[in-house]
Amino acid sequence: MTKKTILRALAGETLPTPPIWMMRQAGRYLPEYRTTRAEAGDFLKLCYNPELAAEVTLQPIRRYGFDAAILFADILLLPQALGADLWFETGEGPRLSTIGDMAGVRALRPIADIHETLAPIYETVKLLAAELPRETTLIGFAGAPWTVATYMIAGRGTKDQGPAHALKSSDRAAFSALIDVITEATILYLSAQVSAGAEVVKLFDSWAGSLKGQDFTDFAVKPAARIISALKAMHPGLPVIAFPREGGDGYVGFARATGADCVAIDNSVTPEWAAAHVQIDGCVQGNLAPHHMVSGGQELVEATRHVVKAFRGGPHIFNLGHGITPDANPDNVQLMIDTVRGA
Ligand code: CP3
Repeated sequence: MTKKTILRALAGETLPTPPIWMMRQAGRYLPEYRTTRAEAGDFLKLCYNPELAAEVTLQPIRRYGFDAAILFADILLLPQALGADLWFETGEGPRLSTIGDMAGVRALRPIADIHETLAPIYETVKLLAAELPRETTLIGFAGAPWTVATYMIAGRGTKDQGPAHALKSSDRAAFSALIDVITEATILYLSAQVSAGAEVVKLFDSWAGSLKGQDFTDFAVKPAARIISALKAMHPGLPVIAFPREGGDGYVGFARATGADCVAIDNSVTPEWAAAHVQIDGCVQGNLAPHHMVSGGQELVEATRHVVKAFRGGPHIFNLGHGITPDANPDNVQLMIDTVRGA
């Protein structure tokens, strides 16, 4: 059997047509997702129901034939498994109990206990490994420590990650201890996903862009390097995708510094820049602006061709620069795929 296209790109091969998947490909823009979420009751119940979570993971594969499926779960399940309270306010987003000092970090559950809460997620991975078409790659994921910490400290999403930056400067010991707990728990969590059947893992550092200078090295690069080397020691040859979103110049050399096999690029940089400065080190993923999935038309076609062309000279996985939004039109996703595949 020829190797799956995503795995070939991750191994550094330049393919005539880039393989494609999409961040948040299972989500609210799909009517079949909304139906299954209603059946589950709410978003968290859906995440912890292996049959239904596997079903929504498969929906975009059936509809579009993407080259990869990403496990349906959330980066905030890990804090919950560590003992944080987690709930979702409709129309507003996640809410968590907050951590503001060393006592809060010490009150977290032992990292080895996360599997009690996360066992249904591993069950979803097992179901998917058995059910996916043979050409489709299964991607597991977790949040990177900095991004997860921003939610655990603030108790919600924040525009500038102010509370996390404040703790970092006022109580460095507590902040660093929290980063270390999340780092070690993430290794256990991702390793269990791989043991259950995930073929690739992705680390989402959605708020990496707010770390500047030495902070970027200490809290985006170093934790990623630690997670990736530990995972590769346990699972030799495991491909890893890292997404230090809005990392800007931090993207340069990120693969070498962390051991990642692929760097996912957001759409705040041009594909030409990313080809010249990041793809020279290996595979990149990205970076069509998600708004094209709302607006569509000839602009979508031209922007899609632009991304494909800019990355044609090296290994590339086509994707959006960030997740698809709930107001996207499913027909525009098909138009993007047809354009990438040259139909
Ligand atoms: O990509 C996929 O299809 C796989 C599943 C997945 C989800 N979240 C499902 C989800 C993945 C990989 C994530 C990652 C995630 N979750 C990130 C990192 C990536 C990024 O978007 O930057 C972050 C920061 C979160 C935390 C989170 N989860 C937020 C801030 C929100 C609310 C905002 C929003 O988009 O609604 C969620 C909810 C969430 N996670 C939804 C989905 C499908 C929507 C929930 C719903 O159905 O109501």
